[in-house]
Amino acid sequence: MTVMTRPDAATARAVVDAPALSPATIVKPDLLTVDDAKAMDVATMTDLFKAHINPGQLHFMKLLGFHKVKVERAEGMHYIDQNGRRILDFFGGFGSLAFGHNHPRILEARKRFQDEKRHEIAIAFMSQYAAALARNIAACSPGDLDMVFLGSTGSEAMEAAVKLAERAAGPRRPKMIYAENSFHGKTKGVLSITDGQLYRGEFRLVNGHVRVPFGDIEAIENALKADPEIGTVVLETVQGGGGIVQAEPEFWTRLRALCDRHNVIWVADEVQCGFGRTGRFYAFEHYGVVPDITALAKSLGGGKAAVGAMIARRDIYMKAYGSPKTAMIHAQATFGGIGEACVTSIEGINILYDEGLIENAAVTGDYLLERLTALKEKYPRIIKDVRGRGFMVGLEFQDFSQTLPMVLRPMVSVLDDKLKGSLSGFVGALLLRDYDTLVAFTEYNRNVIRLEPPLIAQKEHVDTFVDNLDSLLSRGVVAIVKDFVKSQMG
Ligand SMILES: Cc1ncc(COP(=O)(O)O)c(C=O)c1O
Repeated sequence: MTVMTRPDAATARAVVDAPALSPATIVKPDLLTVDDAKAMDVATMTDLFKAHINPGQLHFMKLLGFHKVKVERAEGMHYIDQNGRRILDFFGGFGSLAFGHNHPRILEARKRFQDEKRHEIAIAFMSQYAAALARNIAACSPGDLDMVFLGSTGSEAMEAAVKLAERAAGPRRPKMIYAENSFHGKTKGVLSITDGQLYRGEFRLVNGHVRVPFGDIEAIENALKADPEIGTVVLETVQGGGGIVQAEPEFWTRLRALCDRHNVIWVADEVQCGFGRTGRFYAFEHYGVVPDITALAKSLGGGKAAVGAMIARRDIYMKAYGSPKTAMIHAQATFGGIGEACVTSIEGINILYDEGLIENAAVTGDYLLERLTALKEKYPRIIKDVRGRGFMVGLEFQDFSQTLPMVLRPMVSVLDDKLKGSLSGFVGALLLRDYDTLVAFTEYNRNVIRLEPPLIAQKEHVDTFVDNLDSLLSRGVVAIVKDFVKSQMG
């Protein structure tokens, strides 16, 4: 297939400067069709990705060998590539694939919706689908977490959460406490409470928010005592981007009590850890506490639709947006509550319970942790820590930068900054190349591989995954690093 690239800047300017054309002379640009997209080869995909999406990102894909894969289909626990290779998915879209790929009930619900020509945009009229989804989410949520804002992403849900908190806390208490190594999204509002230097860069953010170590109740208490302008505490219940980090159970009960005492709003970000992933619908349910505001996204869209939701206590919501005068301050955006996305999500929540997926995450997740812990004992010089809950597991490798033989150190350091001392990239790349197995990486802690398989994963998938990892690690660090370096040179 020949794909035309866009005209260069000079030609494009000439087109803009040309005299206006009459509607009759409007010509269809050189457009690709859906069939063209389907038939595209890897080389063309790469060219277009470079030309139009993100040339720099290709560098990382090449490091990991991801750039060679064209996914043709995806089903259950697997991607199937252009060569018919079945890739076991323990990455799970960072927790977005609770039902695996293309769950038949979700496909069927979407198909029926299309066949019946149901409506999508829910701005002019109320939507029965948005209403049902909001009611379902409220039914899954403890306490009086009853009010639901529907959006399309986790960032949007978290933006809604912090805006609601700020309004409910009042104009004299706009500051927020957030945690070290937090990740709440990349849109500008939540970037101010996201602790990643790479993401924050030189952007001008909202000043005055207070950063504390994750899980440190004294630090939060001291901050609240010191600064009466703090009205909100925002925390992931389990830190995902931070490398699967949990606080002590009593932290959460003390946090709830502290927030009540200081009349401070607690926002629990459950975008990654929620929706059954840790063995409860919400991860905070493990601790018998209920936040004031929470947020879901990722698997809420059933792996087929973009759905995010902010869920709030009714009194807080009413305080901020309860009157006709305030109702539209943060009402849903154009695609909030869009029909097919809601139907996907309604069906998904039903499947979550009908198929016992939350329980499976707890039970089979325990099995995964157990098997990985045994692997840690087998390879104490390679694996430093295994942690997590349910199907949200972090595998931390030892920093090998000091133990690697001197002769290999320069080889590694020329590859990429991100690989220094970190075995994750090497292991991930070789798991994909040699074992058809996909895992996720962690920006804040490069030594951690994140395992967030679909909640449909069974013991046999866990066994395959752990056996593959075992086989790879049995080669030893030096062989793994040499092999990886060789593959990059070749
Ligand atoms: C805890 C948490 N909050 C918010 C977000 C942002 O979600 P999205 O990428 O859908 O905007 C993420 C995404 O990874 C997340 O892990």
